[in-house]
Amino acid sequence: MTILVTGADGYIGWPVLLRLAEMFPDERIVGVDNFARRRWVEEIGSVSAIPILPPEKRIEKARERWGNISFVEGDLTLKEFVDMLVRVYEPDTIVHLAAQPSAPYSQISWEKAVYTQYNNNVSTLNIIWSLKENNLLDAHLIVATTTGVYGAPEYPIPEGFYQVEYKGGKDVVPHPHMAGSFYHMSKCNDINNLWLAHRQWGLNVSDMRTAIVTGATTEEAKGELATRFDFDFYFGVVSHRFCAQTLIGYPITVYGKGLQGKPFVTLEDCVKSFVECVRKGGEGYKIYNQTLGAVKIVELAEMIREAAAEEIGLEVEVKHVPNPRVEKEEHEMVIENDNFRKLVGKPTDLKDAIADIFREIERRKAIIEAHKDRFLPKALLNQR
Ligand SMILES: NC(=O)c1ccc[n+]([C@@H]2O[C@H](COP(=O)([O-])OP(=O)(O)OC[C@H]3O[C@@H](n4cnc5c(N)ncnc54)[C@H](O)[C@@H]3O)[C@@H](O)[C@H]2O)c1
Repeated sequence: MTILVTGADGYIGWPVLLRLAEMFPDERIVGVDNFARRRWVEEIGSVSAIPILPPEKRIEKARERWGNISFVEGDLTLKEFVDMLVRVYEPDTIVHLAAQPSAPYSQISWEKAVYTQYNNNVSTLNIIWSLKENNLLDAHLIVATTTGVYGAPEYPIPEGFYQVEYKGGKDVVPHPHMAGSFYHMSKCNDINNLWLAHRQWGLNVSDMRTAIVTGATTEEAKGELATRFDFDFYFGVVSHRFCAQTLIGYPITVYGKGLQGKPFVTLEDCVKSFVECVRKGGEGYKIYNQTLGAVKIVELAEMIREAAAEEIGLEVEVKHVPNPRVEKEEHEMVIENDNFRKLVGKPTDLKDAIADIFREIERRKAIIEAHKDRFLPKALLNQR
């Protein structure tokens, strides 16, 4: 069996690649990446707080431990490249994690919005078309989409499909897409195309609606095989930004009221569920809400404050700043997750993931201190 992992140099892709190599020692695990994430973070003037090795060295180190890993550098928006991958490796499973994943980056300008949607949507289209053209439609395609496609509805969010009744008729349909950024919309577009490929060609798709992934390590991805940890306004997720702010005694900057519930998943549960999904195999079009549930942003800030006090004896203040995002600042997010819970088995705890982050980044204070002007967009920096 061959398993292809796209975005394998990324925050999630790297630990997924290593875990797959560990769990499937007799299979060939092929990572693919064009290393764009390294360039985007450099472009906005930031760095990963946890240093990661340069690509060649990183892959060499991983191969010393897991001989079943191969790696190919290339851009998935190039159809010839994707055709080459599909023809040469004939993957049984593809875990597609390559994307430009930042909402604020996609909102910077027309160029960034177009870049994000072109990059993300053309990459996914190339994969599904290449599978079709090379008669590999029996492959299992697992894709990281996002819980962000649901928006913030005032009712419990179903796991993808729900029953609609309208003027006497009923049907089970995909939940509407109400995303709030050009990045999140790229995932809605991906879902539309994947759902179409399933309906018209029978492609088996596992659509993993990934929540806000939080964590610094997994069993395999640590030390010299660490995964990246970003903390800037564009690429640092809220939980990682808050931890980095706390570490250097900067106030935790909550956007607006902070009463918006947001779904989280630990890095460990995220990685484990991708691997279990590979093991389980594809069955039709299956959606997993990859989260244990929502936490309000003010509650997250409090959880991080407590963990900092316990782990490293630090006290910080929580500060509310004007919200740079257009979003509901008060929202009870209720999100169903039966499929995900069955897949992940015994889940891990967000609090433990946060404690682990502090243990990992404590030594990286100087790097974070040197880039603290990256925590907030310029307009908010003087208001903190
Ligand atoms: N991290 C999260 O909290 C989160 C939440 C929801 C969804 N997701 C999704 O999960 C996936 C992985 O996210 P991540 O946080 O690891 O992001 P990441 O940026 O660290 O990883 C994505 C990787 O894909 C690569 N890539 C991007 N475009 C490419 C292209 N055209 N060709 C080849 N490689 C390309 C990048 O270089 C990067 O290494 C993405 O699809 C993202 O949208 C992530």
